[in-house]
Amino acid sequence: MTVSMPIQAVTAAAEADTLRFLTCGSVDDGKSTLIGRLLYDSQLLMEDQVADLARDSEKHGTAGDQIDFALLVDGLEAEREQGITIDVAYRFFATPKRRFIVADTPGHVQYTRNMATGASTADLAVLLVDASKGLLTQTRRHAVIVSLLGIRNVVIAVNKMDLVGFEESTFREIVADFREFAGDLGFADVTAIPLSARAGDNVSSRSPKSPWYSGPTLIEHLETIGVENAATSGPFRLPVQWVCRPNQNFRGFAGSVAGGRVKLGDEIVVAASGRTSTVASLAIGNHPVEEAFAGQSVMLTLADEIDISRGDVLVAKGSRPEVSDQFAANLIWFDAEHLLPGRQYLMKNSTRTVPVQITELKYRLDVETLDHGAAKVLEMNEIGFANLSASEPIAFDPYASNRETGAFILIDRFTNATVGAGMLSFALRRASNIHWQALDVDRDARAGLKHQKPAVLWFTGLSGSGKSTVANIVERKLFGRGRHTIILDGDNVRHGLNRDLGFTDADRVENIRRVAETARLMTDAGLIVLVSFISPFRSEREMARGLLPEGEFVEIFVDTPIEVCRQRDPKGLYARADAGEIRNFTGIDSPYEAPEKPDLHLKPAEVDPELLADRVIAFLEERGKLSNA
Ligand code: ADX
Repeated sequence: MTVSMPIQAVTAAAEADTLRFLTCGSVDDGKSTLIGRLLYDSQLLMEDQVADLARDSEKHGTAGDQIDFALLVDGLEAEREQGITIDVAYRFFATPKRRFIVADTPGHVQYTRNMATGASTADLAVLLVDASKGLLTQTRRHAVIVSLLGIRNVVIAVNKMDLVGFEESTFREIVADFREFAGDLGFADVTAIPLSARAGDNVSSRSPKSPWYSGPTLIEHLETIGVENAATSGPFRLPVQWVCRPNQNFRGFAGSVAGGRVKLGDEIVVAASGRTSTVASLAIGNHPVEEAFAGQSVMLTLADEIDISRGDVLVAKGSRPEVSDQFAANLIWFDAEHLLPGRQYLMKNSTRTVPVQITELKYRLDVETLDHGAAKVLEMNEIGFANLSASEPIAFDPYASNRETGAFILIDRFTNATVGAGMLSFALRRASNIHWQALDVDRDARAGLKHQKPAVLWFTGLSGSGKSTVANIVERKLFGRGRHTIILDGDNVRHGLNRDLGFTDADRVENIRRVAETARLMTDAGLIVLVSFISPFRSEREMARGLLPEGEFVEIFVDTPIEVCRQRDPKGLYARADAGEIRNFTGIDSPYEAPEKPDLHLKPAEVDPELLADRVIAFLEERGKLSNA
């Protein structure tokens, strides 16, 4: 029923008279109604659509005999319910003075996520406040996110003024509260408007019910506010989306221009490699052009054959971005499962996706007071500032200079869900100065001297499952065969290297990260390493696997049912956990994520540990892991 179009569809020429904005608020605040009202008032809707709407409104009856404007946009909710993932829909409307693109993000629990992903190109944010409820934490949170996202113009739309009898004092109080709070958020313009989206007061025409208000209507304000287009004025950036090679004679680089402009003959640099060339041809769609701007999808060719692949960023020669694998960034966390420093996530920045870890969570932002507080994790909808370490360098700009190359999302490696968003601040130079030291004696040489192939035998399972018992027998058997081994056992390592760690999720992630790194170092020494840790999270076990060459990590699931572990209770810990004396106990009030496809699946409840150890040895033999190196 409404016209929605991708943001790229607006050409650069129209850019100047287009305002992109975002509405923040929940369905209850009247967000859908407001967007519907704007679309309606701007007369984009055809007469027959209006007739349809009147009919639907009557039928659904949520707005009495008035038109329910929310019905105009709630189609989006229906799409979501059908399982179609739509984070953001761009709705387009126009008045004689300007064109508008509103990023409409369905209001539901995952609101922050949609907001952060829909806002990257917005010039302005409309923060909806329900006049009858006053300024809530949610609005403060939205204001903080809007500020982090670099949006400098804000409208406080105090909605549902009809519910408070258009009382001036209510409006003034909300606005004063907001101004006091937002003083430090760096907004260039904060305009407050009392309105009723449902009845149309002060949306496109001035309401007689608020004679005390002399400011602009919402549409007037949106039509006249000055916006600059930072993206087009910055230096040229083209993250390469794909390399088009239909035949030997053509090699085109396609992508959406993420900053500045580019002309035929311009000198460009590949950000990471520093190789240079000049633009030989430039096209939008199939049409050759002389010049292209931020926001346009282009295909360009270069005068020289230089090495470029997907994920590379082509940039203006005189204005190079940062290239680093260590950086600091603001983070917004969306997922119900909290952010865990040390865990590996995928980071998608422009057209590149690389594994990344949060190495240090510097602080969490209190959205009520804007204070910085210490934090070990970030929970859903929380905002923080952190250091990150990626497995490869990426080319980026600080978010303040470029909202596209400076932004990223974090993706869960298992569920593929977008779990967070970030705004890059700066590269950490000190970290980038550490280089790998090339050593004369390498891991092959060390293993060769021991005539063995290094490996990590990773035993995972509940407390009391028998991991250590089996690992111990396996080590004895290996030792008997003249193998050089070492055993890393949770209880023992927690007395030394990891004695600062407890049993929260965050501590367990760090526990396993350290042990995995230690095991890796030991394989570098040529050893066969037996690791016996509960290691309850799939993600960290996979991280450990990823640290080693293919095939060197052997995941052994010691699968003893919890009832059996509880019965055995060798250290009396289950009894204490059941009595509430120990918190976060695995299997009781802390999760255990069983391996889905372990390399070896042992069931100690049914088989004697000696025989299980023999199975491990047999497995290693079968896989050629015990043959001489
Ligand atoms: S892990 O989850 O971080 O991998 P790890 O294997 O190092 O755990 O340590 C588990 C051992 O610590 C258990 O075998 C048990 O002896 C002891 N322990 C003490 N408190 C807990 C707890 N809350 N949850 C699990 N194990 C605990």
